[in-house]
Amino acid sequence: MNKLIVSLLLTLGITGVAHAAGDATAGQAKAAVCGACHGPDGNSPAPNFPKLAGQGERYLVKQMQDIKSGKRTVLEMTGLLTNTSDQDMADIAAYFASQKGSVGAADPKLVARGEKLFRGGDLDKGLPACTGCHSPNGVGNAAAGFPHLSGQHAAYIAKQLTDFRKEDAGRANDGDAMTMRTIARKLSDEDIAAISSYIQGLH
Ligand code: HEC
Ligand code: HEC
Repeated sequence: MNKLIVSLLLTLGITGVAHAAGDATAGQAKAAVCGACHGPDGNSPAPNFPKLAGQGERYLVKQMQDIKSGKRTVLEMTGLLTNTSDQDMADIAAYFASQKGSVGAADPKLVARGEKLFRGGDLDKGLPACTGCHSPNGVGNAAAGFPHLSGQHAAYIAKQLTDFRKEDAGRANDGDAMTMRTIARKLSDEDIAAISSYIQGLH
């Protein structure tokens, strides 16, 4: 291939990516209204409001779309995304993804059980290790849309796992959530408490 074609392909490739991706600077302004609950930089101070800082863009966009369409019920966000376009969502996602997520602390009494389940799953119950998709340090896999979990509020994580486990809950959105519903059904309340605490302190 000659040099001109190579550089042309590169230019086209880069333009294509830039078009599909969000603009973090534009996203910061568009995310101003979100800061009240999620924190201006996406590190929410309240345990029931999820941290968005450092979360993967693909996952963030999917959740925004699911919340907007009502596939995932978030009462606190009712109507908030009605006038948010696909480009707005991409920009907001790029902004929060570019922020550094803060880390909390795990309850020392729960760490051993939480770590065992997170890293090894439970062979008897057919529970896969969480690390397989969410990675050993919990940062997830941004390209695949597997969410970043490490440092997230334990109360929020526990609510999500409980919602996935219930058939009719707000977290019954389809697509990738099906995986987590199957997994969460194998978790007891004690398992959920231990894993959630472990995740809050994971970094
Ligand atoms: C009044 C408070 C409030 C405001 C304002 C708010 N949110 Fe939320 N948001 C929540 C709550 C509460 C949840 C989690 C609900 C649950 O437990 O499932 C959530 C969940 C989310 C999630 C899913 C996070 C995850 O890890 O799955 C995303 C993404 C999100 N919000 C984006 C936004 C964006 C973007 C804005 C601004 C346009 C915004 N939120 C404004 C309260 C709020
Ligand atoms: C096969 C891959 C896979 C495995 C294994 C897996 N997860 Fe997930 N997890 C996902 C996907 C995909 C999502 C996003 C679902 C969606 O789109 O709503 C998710 C979402 C989550 C969420 C919601 C995050 C948020 O910000 O709201 C939590 C919590 C979670 N997983 C915990 C776990 C735990 C704990 C384990 C181990 C017991 C586990 N996952 C194992 C793929 C996986």
